[in-house]
Amino acid sequence: MPAVEIKPDIYWIGVNDRTTDLFEGFWPISRDGVSYNSYLIKDKENAIIDLSKAIKTDIFFDHIAEVIDISQINYVIINHMEPDHTGVLRTLRKLAPDLTILCTEKAKTMLKDFYAITTNIEVIRDGQCLSLGRKELKFFETPFVHWPETMVTFETSQNILFSCDAFGGYGALRGTIFDDQCNDLDFYIKESLRYYVNIVAKFSRPTLNAIEKLKRVPVEIIAPAHGLIWRKQPGLIVELYKKWAGYATGEAEKGVTLIYGSMYGNTEMMMNSVALGLSHGGIPVDIFDAARTHPSYILPSLWTKSAVVIGAPTYEVGLFPPVAQILEMAALKRVINKKAAMFGSFGWSGGALRAIKNIIEPLKWDLADIFEFQGGPTLKDLKKGHEFGVEFAKKVLSFKKS
Ligand SMILES: Cc1cc2nc3c(=O)[nH]c(=O)nc-3n(C[C@H](O)[C@H](O)[C@H](O)COP(=O)(O)O)c2cc1C
Ligand SMILES: [Fe+2]
Ligand SMILES: [Fe+2]
Repeated sequence: MPAVEIKPDIYWIGVNDRTTDLFEGFWPISRDGVSYNSYLIKDKENAIIDLSKAIKTDIFFDHIAEVIDISQINYVIINHMEPDHTGVLRTLRKLAPDLTILCTEKAKTMLKDFYAITTNIEVIRDGQCLSLGRKELKFFETPFVHWPETMVTFETSQNILFSCDAFGGYGALRGTIFDDQCNDLDFYIKESLRYYVNIVAKFSRPTLNAIEKLKRVPVEIIAPAHGLIWRKQPGLIVELYKKWAGYATGEAEKGVTLIYGSMYGNTEMMMNSVALGLSHGGIPVDIFDAARTHPSYILPSLWTKSAVVIGAPTYEVGLFPPVAQILEMAALKRVINKKAAMFGSFGWSGGALRAIKNIIEPLKWDLADIFEFQGGPTLKDLKKGHEFGVEFAKKVLSFKKS
């Protein structure tokens, strides 16, 4: 994709990454990729807002060269220090040694720590403006969206908010960078939710603070550092982020995330009965085999649904490890206040239930129903499992978060 002019003299110069398998070394993106959106403003003085991961660097520098000579860059605005937006910074400084880096105080320290960069840095204050000639930029600190040093940049002539990670999503750009030219918004909304829950969810409070802080800024275009540029419906992605951030403490959608694992099929057999019961009880269910599904795909369901059903056998007097892993990840991401139920098979001592309680207790999950059985489920057990599902569905439908 060549550089794209968004508005007169304002360009997208990003990199579409379809070769990285794992974002942040952990989250799968090998199927649909991700973009590192970078923006160039051409004026009396030229500025780049956010950079790219150090991948396909020739393409990144070619994009700049399509618009201006690289040596003519005056400013690089670092909204966020994470290497997916700063990976090419040292190379860029070699090509344009006189450029000035604009960033927050905390980012200045990180520039030294991450890249040993200590010169040509100008620290901005919250609300400060920078005139490039005809165009003006205004900076707002938005700490912890996603790291402590994060800020956003607002271009005042076209009312563009360069929001970095905020309002971003997974998914490489598929032929267009604009929401109004995109024929599959559902794909980006789904990938934005997965990105939100994987990357941003832990910082839901700071995200809501940032949205509140920017309430009176007359934003017409949202240009994040990952995914689509929202120029037709900027309000859509803001409202979605607001809704998702609200799930951190508020009421989630009525529904069940059923996470199970099974070594020899005993717990799995019961899972099918429980799922049938839940469906008969009238509640939507997302079912995940914890051993075969990356947490990246389970977390969005956990985040957005009001209830969790855990199906897990006992393993070495504890919890079957793949199920333990997803519950620990839920704890790390602070998935709190859920209605919960547990079922599973054990051979002799049991132990899965105690391990589950240890993990979910600090998360304030209300463990309403428990059904453990020994070895293979009998027909009677399976009927009981069905009833267990129906009853839990009723509780979920009447559950109100306190
Ligand atoms: C590797 C392994 C370790 C196990 N450890 C325990 C244990 O410590 N205590 C226990 O009660 N059962 C233990 N079991 C028995 C299982 O919990 C039992 O076989 C159960 O039915 C497995 O259910 P599944 O077919 O859904 O995996 C163990 C089984 C395996 C294969
Ligand atoms: Fe980030
Ligand atoms: Fe990022």
